[in-house]
Amino acid sequence: MPPRKTVAEPQPFVVKRSRIQGRGGWATRDIKKGEWIVEYVGEKITWAESDRRYDDEKMSRHHTFLFTLDKRYVIDAANEGNDARYINHSCDPNCEAVITKGHIYIAALRNIKKGEELFYDYSYARDKNTTEEDEKLYVCRCGSAKCRGTILEAPKKRKKRAHHAAARRGHTAGRKKVGKKAGSGAKGKKRSSAGTKARTRR
Ligand SMILES: C[S@@+](CC[C@H](N)C(=O)[O-])C[C@H]1O[C@@H](n2cnc3c(N)ncnc32)[C@H](O)[C@@H]1O
Ligand SMILES: [Zn+2]
Repeated sequence: MPPRKTVAEPQPFVVKRSRIQGRGGWATRDIKKGEWIVEYVGEKITWAESDRRYDDEKMSRHHTFLFTLDKRYVIDAANEGNDARYINHSCDPNCEAVITKGHIYIAALRNIKKGEELFYDYSYARDKNTTEEDEKLYVCRCGSAKCRGTILEAPKKRKKRAHHAAARRGHTAGRKKVGKKAGSGAKGKKRSSAGTKARTRR
């Protein structure tokens, strides 16, 4: 059996201001592809509780520290959170989120140089009623050549009729699967390039 994977010690990044938004995580040493950089920790709450705490429609700009764990639970890093909560989103990320056995880890997608800002792709879940307004609320400022303009997941290619349905307003909370690539990793491990986080809309 391969040795159990552990999180890098000491933590290989610091939190400081980011040109993208607020603060971000910055590598303090070279980090090797595949290293687990940090666990995303925080208070484990139900989706119902996250709906009570946060309402996207009352935010002028989206900002939470929520991370989807599974269909029932969300991690709210606003409480009991660590530095992982400051890692920003990029559409061309150098990290990914790995969800395994009820834990979320941020892992290096490629070799990362000391001094680089760390990013993973949040890929917030869309639902069939996601609108252009949502796109604006979740605007992406990663600035990469591959930027898709939003921190929402890339729209799935749909037939024309389905597109019309997607443009309709008024929908319920997007409580989605753990991540786009859920279940595609090693046995017993859910991989997510997604850091799919909670969206709450009423
Ligand atoms: C978990 S926080 C990340 C840390 C955040 N920069 C801070 O200082 O609190 C997630 C929030 O950061 C912002 N954010 C992260 N990446 C972004 C990006 N590429 N473009 C725009 N806003 C981003 C969004 O407001 C998002 O809701
Ligand atoms: Zn982007």
